[in-house]
Order: sequence, then C-alpha cells, then structure tokens
Amino acid sequence: MIRKIGILTSGGDSPGMNAAVVGVARCAAAHGIQLMGIKRGYNGLLGLSEKPEDDIAALDLETVLDIADGRGTFLRTARCDEFRQPEVQRQCAQNLRNLGIDALVVCGGDGSFNGALRLAELGIPCIGIPGTIDNDLGYTERTLGYDSAVNCCVEAVRAIRATSRSHDRPAVVQVMGRHCGDIAMKTAMATGAEMIVVPEMRWDVDKVAARLNDLVARGNTRATLIISENCWDNMKEFDWRKFLNDNGKTIYPHEPINAERLASILKRKCGGLEVRATVLGYVQRGVQPTAEDSAFAFEAANLAIQLLNRGVINQAIGIRHGRVFNMPIADALLMKKHFDRETYDLINSL
Ligand code: ADP
Ligand code: F6P
Repeated sequence: MIRKIGILTSGGDSPGMNAAVVGVARCAAAHGIQLMGIKRGYNGLLGLSEKPEDDIAALDLETVLDIADGRGTFLRTARCDEFRQPEVQRQCAQNLRNLGIDALVVCGGDGSFNGALRLAELGIPCIGIPGTIDNDLGYTERTLGYDSAVNCCVEAVRAIRATSRSHDRPAVVQVMGRHCGDIAMKTAMATGAEMIVVPEMRWDVDKVAARLNDLVARGNTRATLIISENCWDNMKEFDWRKFLNDNGKTIYPHEPINAERLASILKRKCGGLEVRATVLGYVQRGVQPTAEDSAFAFEAANLAIQLLNRGVINQAIGIRHGRVFNMPIADALLMKKHFDRETYDLINSL
C-alpha cells in the first residue's frame, strides 16, 4: 500500500518536467497519496544544500498547479557525483525510509535512471519518467522535452535561414543532444537544412566543404549546416589548427574546435564565402513545453501513479506507437538507440 511518495528532477532540465510534477501531484492527490518534492536531484536526498531542511517538503496541489506551464524545473535539478558511490546510495535509501517515503518518481535521463536503478536494488520502489531533451534513450520513441527543444531549434534555424538568404551567407548552427544526433536530425528535416553532422557518423570536413561548394555552384548561397554538439568526436582527422594558421587566422594549441572555427574553415575552403555560426545553447532547455510534451507529461504521471498503486515497480515510462507504456528500468537501459542512417544520407544528398 503506497501512502507517501517522493519526486525529483535530475540531470539537465527539460521542458515538461514541471508538467510531470503537476501531473504526479494531481494523480497522487486523487488517490490519497502524499507527495514530497525533493530539490536538486539526488543532492536533495543527501541534505547537501545550505538549507537542507528545505530540500524535502510536502508538495501541495495549490503550490504546484501554478507551475504547470512554467519553464525550467520548479524542483530545481542538479548533477550529484557523490551519488555514484554505493555507500552514498545506501545512505539515500535509508534517508527515504526514515522519511516514510514508500516510492520515488525520478524524472531525468539515462544517468538519473541508473541512479533510480541503484535505489531500486536497495529496496526503494522507483518509477522513471524520461525527462531529457536529448532523446537518447533507446527504449522510448520520444523523451520528455525533446519535442520542445526541436521546436525551439526549428524556430531559430528558420530565422537564421531567412537572414542567410538575405545576405547569401551559409550558416553553421550547433544544437544540443549530448552523444545523440536526434535534435539535429529532426531540426534539419523540419527546416530543409542541406547538411548535417552528428556524433553517430564519421564525417569529413573536406566532404562538407565540397558539398557546400556544390550547393553554391547550383545557386544555393544560403545553405545551412546543422551540427550536433559532440560531432567533433567523430570528425575525420584533419590538422585544422595548421589549416587556419596557414590561412590567416591565428589559433593557439590549446584552443578546441568549435562551430565558429568550423565556419572559418568552410569560408577558406569555399572561396571566401561568409559562413556564419550560431550556437543554440540553453534556449533549447528553457523553452515552454509544447503541447506534445505537456500531454506526454500528463499521461506519464498518470501511468506512474497507476503502476505504484498496482505494485508494478521499478518501471521506466516511455512512448511506443504514440502511447505511453512501461517496462523495467533495468531492461530499458539495455536497449540500444537506433540511428536513422537513411534520413541522414537523404538530408546530406538532396
Ligand atoms: P541525465 O539524467 O540527464 O542523463 P546525468 O548523466 O548527468 O544526466 O545524470 C544525472 C545524475 O544521475 C548524476 O549527477 C548522478 O547523480 C546520477 N547518476 C548518473 N549515472 C549514474 C550511475 N551510473 N549510477 C548512479 N547514479 C548515477
Ligand atoms: O542532457 C541535456 C544536455 O543539455 C545535453 O544536451 C548537453 O550535453 C548537456 O545537457 C549540457 O549540460 P550542462 O547544462 O551541464 O552544460
């Protein structure tokens, strides 16, 4: 019998986390379950903040109803390195027992799910809601926040492409996604961007430059290259520092490659074209959730409470064929993410 549960948000914030908290609060209240809000991810379970007495507090419906559409996460979020240690995990499990918390809902990405799995192994029933913009979890068609982040990128790239067209200047636009190129892929498909590079695929600066030269020769002087933030990990070796130094741009040995430097390289490999770079950072995480994400949060929250009431524990909630479903967190974390090579090739070839 579940009487009291906790909820936390962990890892990078993602649009829809607040809606998930509100959804859980509404469903918990409807079933007579008390909800405790835990601040700053796993840190909140350890009392690590300056005011630990505020880290875990009852979340009444009146308070949370006001945050439903809000940006960021009301519960705050954090990355908690200490929590990776088994003795700290044991301490957290004990703290939850001492508070009389019967189960924990964790809203976060794969790292946060790994944390939830450790607590589950220590006897704390857990439910995971996949809150991350990255869409990097293999078991679900979509993570909470991905749709909002993509819509934000699409809006930005459309604006950039309008100015690119006005000035006949190609653009490099960097989006987030950690080691997953999904945000880049969806953004490129939705905006008609002509080129994309992602961490999943080996890529070659010379081939990108050749493609850009070809597009320009065909009259497209405002082509857009979407790059996913960790694409550098899979870039074919190229002495880009020497290339830029030899071509009039001073680069020091410690300086890393980035979107702006890639734009400089392309400029020099494409007859002096003014290639401009834009890095879309936290705007992707801090946007208001789209209807898709808010609705997903609502359905996921309802399923979380239903599962706990039925005693179906240690489950990850996801979307399959457009509907919410659940599977054991341990199995969900083992599922490999599929990369859509066909679409990647299509974007880079039309
Ligand atoms: P995300 O949940 O978005 O993937 P992180 O990878 O930063 O974000 O993980 C968030 C938090 O989850 C970490 O700061 C840590 O507290 C916890 N965590 C991550 N990986 C593990 C792990 N292997 N074991 C236990 N806890 C983990
Ligand atoms: O997981 C979400 C995410 O925004 C990733 O896309 C990115 O790699 C990372 O978080 C950035 O983390 P931080 O906010 O700590 O810079």
